[in-house]
Amino acid sequence: MSMLLDVRHLSKSYRKSAGWFRYRHVHALDNISFSLQQGKTLAIVGETGSGKSTLAKLLVGIEKPDHGHILLDGTEVQLRHYRQYNHMVRFIFQDASKSLNPQQKIGQMLDDVLRFNTRMDSQQRMHKIHQTLKQLGLLNEHSDYYPHMFSGGQLQRVALARALILDPKLLILDEALTALDPSLRAQIVNLLLELQQKTGLAYLLITNHLRLVKHIADDLLVLHQGKALDYGNTAHVFKHAEHDYSRKLINSAIA
Ligand SMILES: Nc1ncnc2c1ncn2[C@@H]1O[C@H](COP(=O)(O)OP(=O)(O)OP(=O)(O)O)[C@@H](O)[C@H]1O
Ligand SMILES: [Mg+2]
Repeated sequence: MSMLLDVRHLSKSYRKSAGWFRYRHVHALDNISFSLQQGKTLAIVGETGSGKSTLAKLLVGIEKPDHGHILLDGTEVQLRHYRQYNHMVRFIFQDASKSLNPQQKIGQMLDDVLRFNTRMDSQQRMHKIHQTLKQLGLLNEHSDYYPHMFSGGQLQRVALARALILDPKLLILDEALTALDPSLRAQIVNLLLELQQKTGLAYLLITNHLRLVKHIADDLLVLHQGKALDYGNTAHVFKHAEHDYSRKLINSAIA
């Protein structure tokens, strides 16, 4: 079966200043390989600075790897062509509300996404906007709302609407659920699982929330200082992690 996402031997280092005219290289990612099938969820866990967001940036083509390959539906992701991945891969970040323009109505914001990325006419766009709002449990009237008129949970749905309106195949959630309060998180998680069942959407879930990982991720990759320590089926890694670091991370979370 062909993979939606196939990452092979991916490396990326950054040059960091270490005083006057001196630099050191930080290996943000060091020879990372993994794959993700359609309709599945892969969790990436690891402490701060382990390379999680770097991985996300490489996946959407906004940064270029030093070595390795990223195959998306069999085609290599290339820098500068990232607009063509706008359809396939979408991002959602932790502070969804901050990434919304406070002076723009939600309907207008969604319409811009469609105008920029598709050739739909205005009627098709309006239809798609209403369909997407409905899919996320929002109402047509919400098109006329400004961001400040929504609750926190609704805003998270708006951010999801923006990510999903182009019918992507892969959604990258970079700590997008972490800051939500537990009941709200449960709501959004259920919504995500429902969408996955209906549409075959795949998720790359970047988080340190191990309970959440256990609940929703099919596979788990543990990153530590840019290296993949443990990788495999989530239940298996939870039971039989090879590395001390992974075991500690897992034990501390489920203790
Ligand atoms: N543009 C950049 N220039 C220099 N160094 C960078 C750059 N982006 C990331 N790094 C470094 O690469 C390493 C990995 O960073 P990254 O943002 O991927 O970590 P992370 O796992 O997402 O951390 P967090 O959990 O805090 O979000 C860090 O040491 C970081 O300082
Ligand atoms: Mg990060």
